[in-house]
Amino acid sequence: MAIENVVVADDEFLNRDLLSEIFTRLDITVRVAKDGVHALRALEEQPADLLITDIRMPGMGGMRLLAKAQEKWPQMPVVMMTAYASVESAVQSMRDGAYDYLMKPFGVEQVEALLLRLNERQQLIRRVATLTEEVRDRHRARNFLGETEVMNDVFLTVERAARANATVLVCGESGTGKELVARALHEQSPRAEGPFVKVNCAALTETLLASELFGHERGSFTGADNQRIGRFELADGGTLLLDEISEISPEMQAKLLRVLEEREFERVGGERPIKVDVRIVATTNRNLPAEVAEGNFREDLYYRLNVIPVNLPPLRERRDDVAEILLHYLAHFGSEMGCDPQLDQGAFDLLTAYTWPGNVRELVNIVERLVVLGGDGVLDASVVRRCLPELDRNQPATATFASLADLEKQHLSAAIATFGDDRAGMAKALGVTQKALATKLSKLGLEA
Ligand SMILES: Nc1ncnc2c1ncn2[C@@H]1O[C@H](COP(=O)(O)OP(=O)(O)OP(=O)(O)O)[C@@H](O)[C@H]1O
Ligand SMILES: [Mg+2]
Repeated sequence: MAIENVVVADDEFLNRDLLSEIFTRLDITVRVAKDGVHALRALEEQPADLLITDIRMPGMGGMRLLAKAQEKWPQMPVVMMTAYASVESAVQSMRDGAYDYLMKPFGVEQVEALLLRLNERQQLIRRVATLTEEVRDRHRARNFLGETEVMNDVFLTVERAARANATVLVCGESGTGKELVARALHEQSPRAEGPFVKVNCAALTETLLASELFGHERGSFTGADNQRIGRFELADGGTLLLDEISEISPEMQAKLLRVLEEREFERVGGERPIKVDVRIVATTNRNLPAEVAEGNFREDLYYRLNVIPVNLPPLRERRDDVAEILLHYLAHFGSEMGCDPQLDQGAFDLLTAYTWPGNVRELVNIVERLVVLGGDGVLDASVVRRCLPELDRNQPATATFASLADLEKQHLSAAIATFGDDRAGMAKALGVTQKALATKLSKLGLEA
């Protein structure tokens, strides 16, 4: 949509006539006003694609008209006209949100150049809007919900990263959707037809994890009765999800580093190097840089994993997404159970005010519980109260959790008060090494 309809405000009738003529010749509808008040009246009767206004006019001047126009028609570009003497107010008006200014006296060329710029701007705005819409739709189709800016950023990163082969590190609290991101990365990648293989690094001991990941040859350790193909091999041509990567031992960290560097490994008890073509996605609900600082996680491995970071914010930091996810799963579980549950205002308010420490997973589980317990029809606050965990019921709507860093800080300050300079005693009491303690204290700004 090009500029088709303009309002011109100027107290000098010669200038109004000039602009009228120029626009009419360009086939653009133009309405003229002699001051801000009349211009507003014209816009209220019918909005315009562009407002051009003089700065100095008796009655309501251009600056006030600009402010009012922005309030009422934030999408409409406003161009200021000014004589050389008042060019400073033109500059000020651009700080206040005017799109551009025309210096008087001006001719047809300046107006045409202005229209060209405006049409380009309009096209860009529309392009961004359709792109945002497209990205959103594509993810909605995969049940990846969320409309907040942070989530849109996540969707965009996932989309870009999916096309590459680079390792992705997905960070976020439990239940924020890390596995969903990993699956989306796979499904949107050129490897989508290949396997998606998941390994939970926290669930296995060192030996078992090694054989799980790399496989083993027969007789390589007690109980290894047969040869086994590891997950790395199974994921060949596809994606390997290493869940809870922070939990692996230092030995395993070293092995993994080598695989990431060389894309090659041996089965446990085997000698033949095996090459695989695998895209790796790792997840963690810990602060890995902090684990690195404390010496629990190899820095070189961290950098190898963190090629493309995706950070999923906790649900309480994107509250505006709660309603959408809530309503989606309400309909989902409703249709599974053959009913059409609705929420009344009280129920809705309770659910959107809750802090969701278990993030989206908790929200999904509670909605399912609601549908099962509440059944068909309209669910009210009392049903919701029965479904929400005890601890949050009496908290005010705005309750949030203290961050772990804040809690650590409180705890360490108390320890400093008790132990003073006795860092060895303090480290022992806290169950960490003195080095880890020193790092932590300096990170939290608590060192002596
Ligand atoms: N943006 C979202 N839209 C819709 N559903 C979501 C979204 N994020 C997460 N979920 C749902 O929440 C549940 C938990 O997600 P997921 O398993 O990906 O979390 P996670 O971060 O891997 O958790 P954990 O750290 O505990 O393994 C799943 O049922 C998932 O489908
Ligand atoms: Mg998970």
